[in-house]
Amino acid sequence: MIQRMEIADLNRILELERLCFSSPWSMDDFVYELNENPFGYYVVLREGNNIIAYLGLWMDEERAQITTIGVDPAHRGKGYAKALMEHMFDVCSSKGVRIYSLEVRISNQSAISLYKRFGFEQVGLRKAYYQDNHEDAYLMIKESEGNECVSVQ
Ligand SMILES: CC(C)(COP(=O)(O)OP(=O)(O)OC[C@H]1O[C@@H](n2cnc3c(N)ncnc32)[C@H](O)[C@@H]1OP(=O)(O)O)[C@@H](O)C(=O)NCCC(=O)NCCS
Repeated sequence: MIQRMEIADLNRILELERLCFSSPWSMDDFVYELNENPFGYYVVLREGNNIIAYLGLWMDEERAQITTIGVDPAHRGKGYAKALMEHMFDVCSSKGVRIYSLEVRISNQSAISLYKRFGFEQVGLRKAYYQDNHEDAYLMIKESEGNECVSVQ
């Protein structure tokens, strides 16, 4: 089940952040996104009561930027990221979003493969984008036409 992320979810989200990312976001980062950022849209995916994946983005008229997606390492390779991406495209297209963008570490093959699967293309390189190890990022973009169906099988 996919639902909007709430403040009560954040202890578990921070646990997943630490499992998923070398530079995890802080509690304050998420509280800002949930309570103050008017462009923020964050969801969690639950199996029973347990949150196993989450996704965040900023939406502004016809543009959306994916800010984060993470899946519990114990539950990877089961289609949860795909489910979150499909949910995101449904929500965004219903709100008129046409252009999707994101940055991804150039070493992150699983995420790059996920994004390419959904039609994202590498359009640029941001040198030394990540502060922890100065790794480069690919800028990836997907443009969709009007009400085109963006889900994949
Ligand atoms: C990237 C990530 C979100 C994928 O989550 P997941 O639930 O395992 O992915 P899914 O099972 O839904 O797989 C969807 C697609 O992702 C790609 N993918 C997922 N894991 C992969 C792997 N280990 N190697 C290559 N491609 C992979 C494939 O294209 C896959 O499609 P397929 O099943 O048709 O081959 C997960 O590995 C993760 O949380 N990584 C750490 C956090 C992260 O790097 N987030 C992205 C930041 S930009």
